[in-house]
Amino acid sequence: MRQKLVAGNWKMNGSAASIQTLLDGIQAGLASVKNAEVVVCPPFVYLAQVAQALAGTSMAWGAQNLSKEALGAFTGEIAAQMLNDFQCKYVIIGHSERRSFYGETDQIVAEKYATALKHGLKPILCVGELLSEREADQTEAVIARQLDAVIALNGIDALNQGVIAYEPVWAIGTGKTASPEQAQAVHAFIRSRIAAQAPDLAQKLQILYGGSMKPDNAAELMAMPDIDGGLIGGAALKAADFLAICQAA
Ligand code: 13P
Repeated sequence: MRQKLVAGNWKMNGSAASIQTLLDGIQAGLASVKNAEVVVCPPFVYLAQVAQALAGTSMAWGAQNLSKEALGAFTGEIAAQMLNDFQCKYVIIGHSERRSFYGETDQIVAEKYATALKHGLKPILCVGELLSEREADQTEAVIARQLDAVIALNGIDALNQGVIAYEPVWAIGTGKTASPEQAQAVHAFIRSRIAAQAPDLAQKLQILYGGSMKPDNAAELMAMPDIDGGLIGGAALKAADFLAICQAA
């Protein structure tokens, strides 16, 4: 049995005050979450606050991005070793917003994956197709290309140390969720593609779904055999909704 994982990607939201309220709310209900590891990924500047609030609890935290470079003259970037300073366990890599708004290519994503592993961070590797790609029947080809870039640079065994998140771009922040069957089909495709090279690894690999996961659809999505949890955007910003999703796992 794979452990379920529910991660909140807070994106560029929150303030010191609202984050404290959110963390207090999540922690107040945490005892009711039986089956999932619970993770939050705040904006970088709030990592110290989150690390302090969650130290010694069962929750883990991560960053939403990192630089592929080590320390140096890279204005505005954040290095993996800085994330180590704040005890990040996870780092989201290759989110579709990074790919589309900030030009992150498959190659850059693969290099970031390597940097994360080098520093003991667990990458949450995001893959997913645009609506136009789905409509052109390109979903599997796109996901295969995104995965293969990471495998080509890092080797298949590198996936052992990470988590994959399938996030169909057309479902992110749109209120349009992939149906459980649509999501399951892609999750099964991802697992089978990895199984072709590493069957044991594929069985152990956690594959999360992301894209308008909410309290009212979380249980049926996470009941699918290859869906091992969620990467949650909007609904992770309300403690009650986030907890309800964690409880559905
Ligand atoms: P929403 O849950 O807001 O659709 O966002 C999903 C997402 O992008 C998580 O990384």
